Amino acid sequence: GSNNTHSPERPLAHLTPSAGWMNDPNGLFYDNETSTYHTYYQYNPNDTVFSLPLYWGHASSQDLMTWKDHGVAIEPRDDQSGAFSGSIVVDHNNTSGFFNDSTLPGQRIVALYTEHSNTSETQYAAYSLDGGYSFEYYEQNPVLDINSTQFRDPKVFWHDETQRWIMALALSQEYKVQIYSSENLTSWEFQSNFSHHGILGYQYECPGLAKVPVIHESPSNVTLHGLNSTTNATAQTNVTSVDHKWVMFLSINPGAPMGGSFNEYFIGDFDGKTFTAQDSATRIFDHGKDFYALQTYSDAPNDDVLGIAWASNWDYGAYVPAEDYRGSMSLVRNFTLRPYNPNPETTEFTLYSEPLVNYTQLHTNQSMHKTSLELNSDESVLYRLGKYPQGLLEFSVEWKVNATAVLSKRDFADMSLYFKGVKDDEEYLRLGYEHNAAAFFLDRGNSEVEFVNQNPFFTNRVSQNIEPFKIAEDGLPIFKVRGIIDRNLIELFFNDGSSTSTNLFFLSEENYIGAVEITSGVDDVFTILDFDVKQLSV
Ligand code: FRU
Repeated sequence: GSNNTHSPERPLAHLTPSAGWMNDPNGLFYDNETSTYHTYYQYNPNDTVFSLPLYWGHASSQDLMTWKDHGVAIEPRDDQSGAFSGSIVVDHNNTSGFFNDSTLPGQRIVALYTEHSNTSETQYAAYSLDGGYSFEYYEQNPVLDINSTQFRDPKVFWHDETQRWIMALALSQEYKVQIYSSENLTSWEFQSNFSHHGILGYQYECPGLAKVPVIHESPSNVTLHGLNSTTNATAQTNVTSVDHKWVMFLSINPGAPMGGSFNEYFIGDFDGKTFTAQDSATRIFDHGKDFYALQTYSDAPNDDVLGIAWASNWDYGAYVPAEDYRGSMSLVRNFTLRPYNPNPETTEFTLYSEPLVNYTQLHTNQSMHKTSLELNSDESVLYRLGKYPQGLLEFSVEWKVNATAVLSKRDFADMSLYFKGVKDDEEYLRLGYEHNAAAFFLDRGNSEVEFVNQNPFFTNRVSQNIEPFKIAEDGLPIFKVRGIIDRNLIELFFNDGSSTSTNLFFLSEENYIGAVEITSGVDDVFTILDFDVKQLSV
């Protein structure tokens, strides 16, 4: 059945389990025979918290906004174990020998995942003869066993250059991403360790390697982003040239700088055996608190690098308000590497993220568009978003900062957007930019919800510095943010996605966002060049 009609707090356009517990995304692949995205996930159907036995749940979508639930796809060996995280590849050429002509090449899928128990973690293979709805377990499992209890989360992909399957997985507590290769998906040969890179935290989890398109174009010239883009982002880009760099994704838990779990990445090169980082930098994937265990889709259209993450944090994921289910995924995002300027003296590549919002699948119930709004401290602008908002909205704001205005460092020179509850406007989300710090902030703490006020790990405020999106003709910097709010999840894309921030938030029941108030703490500093907000429903 469909997930979209359930309880009043369930996100509308994000994947959630119909009941039970969800964590990491698993086995992501695109079936190009039927144009269907398949998303599996760590699933406990028996409770709304993590516990063994743990399964792979399964959902599919053609529009990336609505998901069909297919229940359990992969089972653990027994009740004391878990079918832990892993990935799926499409074995078009039947290198595994699992298939015959009765399975279409684009549906010859093989899952590689970790069979976990308290005494071992080994890698298992399973395959599907019906396009991903049911699985057969390889008879000679495990396919990889190094006698470890902390060895998991295989991400497999086809490496064209060496004509081999490559597996990256975590030797978690030795801080190693191990790389193996295979010709048939069942016998695996060790290639290299990527070891002691990045923020280490307690352990490494859910690594991934992907060949990401490099777009040689200044982001400010890219016009496709923003409210009018459709699902097929790269196809519309006016790209001057494209090549690729390899990106290693890595999940850390616990031990994130902001608490709990987070994703980092490294840019570099991969020769089929070894990943070599281009520099010693650790790059933060998402600056919010709720973006973990990112995985990319196998066989995505146009060779795009599309990925999805669990939108929660292991510090408090088991305690967030829930009725019959807990956990949701981020929107699917498209990743590219583009040049940007973290400061005026450096130009380098960073990972851009763009959410795939499928507008043909969403109804716009109300929308508002404003230009040229000068902000002052003694007046604010309030926009109401209709009487019956459903909790799904999208906005974008582009503004210019008059950096020559006379300001004291003592001034809290902010521009703030208050997203207010429709039933009770004392509950709100506050998103702002402060000029002296040149940083954004998000405050999710203005809520009556007990969990928000009582769970010490659910920290209310996140912030991040941000580079100008572009410089106006008069020399003043322009910034931009796009956001998608879906009931209890806010995803922010700064400056066309050069950085992102994904965060859960909880207001009282059905107190959906019903108005936006824009304020400034100072005079003559902020001009809103463009403000757009849409109330949406699925
Ligand atoms: C990451 C993780 C993985 C493991 C899975 C278990 O969130 O701990 O390392 O495979 O979750 O559900």
